[in-house]
Amino acid sequence: MSELEDKIAQAQEEIQKASHIAVLTGAGISAESGVPTFRGQEGLWQNFRPEELATPEAFWRDPKLVWEWYDWRRNAVRDAKPNPGHYALAELEHYVQKITLITQNIDGLHQMAGSHDVVEMHGNIWQIKCTKCGEIEESYVVPLPEIPPKCKKCGELARPNVVWFGEMIDMSVIDASLQAIEQCQVMLIIGTSGVVEPAASMGLVAKQTNKTVIEINLEETPSAGLYDIVIREKSGEILPLLFTSNKTLS
Ligand code: OAD
Ligand code: ZN
Repeated sequence: MSELEDKIAQAQEEIQKASHIAVLTGAGISAESGVPTFRGQEGLWQNFRPEELATPEAFWRDPKLVWEWYDWRRNAVRDAKPNPGHYALAELEHYVQKITLITQNIDGLHQMAGSHDVVEMHGNIWQIKCTKCGEIEESYVVPLPEIPPKCKKCGELARPNVVWFGEMIDMSVIDASLQAIEQCQVMLIIGTSGVVEPAASMGLVAKQTNKTVIEINLEETPSAGLYDIVIREKSGEILPLLFTSNKTLS
């Protein structure tokens, strides 16, 4: 058995034993759907500066610029379809009693693949939120007819319903994530560089409470040394193999 086959067999065994699995995903799971990641050679932050585009200060300085960037990203995501990694996670719900899927992604591809109760840590790019009355509108129109868009209810400036650098993540989201990590037996960490908090520490929390942590990422990550099983392959290729014991690597 090759080293990879051995790791896959170990991961399958852990998953089969588990009744609750917590899953944390990042931009890497959507990479095979053609959605750009943030870091790495072709990452968004190579060409754009986060502080100019993904902060509340940037938005209030120049809402049009920030909205143009989000409109461009909405366009990039619009034609994206879930890949076998998203579908495998959705299918996992049929085999394991409880799955909690926590994602840092704002693309909605997990839901499109059929996952339920997705915890969206960083919001959703298809939602437009009023800066005054808080009204949330779901809109899939690309390009947006008006930039920056206005609230349909009160007419004030609207913003993308996403979490920017320097903003608080909803406590209910943190609570739901930590509760799942506390209650699960196995945690899967997929396609995240592990450098943005609080998601970056979630694997450590799982280890502190003696959970089995399985990481799938193409590249090295800061906390990988602490994890139980580390697979350095594409998530869209590995995830479909993990959840059905009769499948083997081709
Ligand atoms: P990153 O772009 O930081 O990291 C993507 C990770 O996915 C990297 O570690 C890659 O090695 C890995 N990867 C790429 N393709 C893969 C594949 N096919 N299979 C498996 N792994 C693959 O994205 P995140 O960790 O999600 O926040 O970034 C976290 C947050 O930083 C984002 O939510 C965003 C960003 O700034 C905000 O905008 C607030
Ligand atoms: Zn409003």
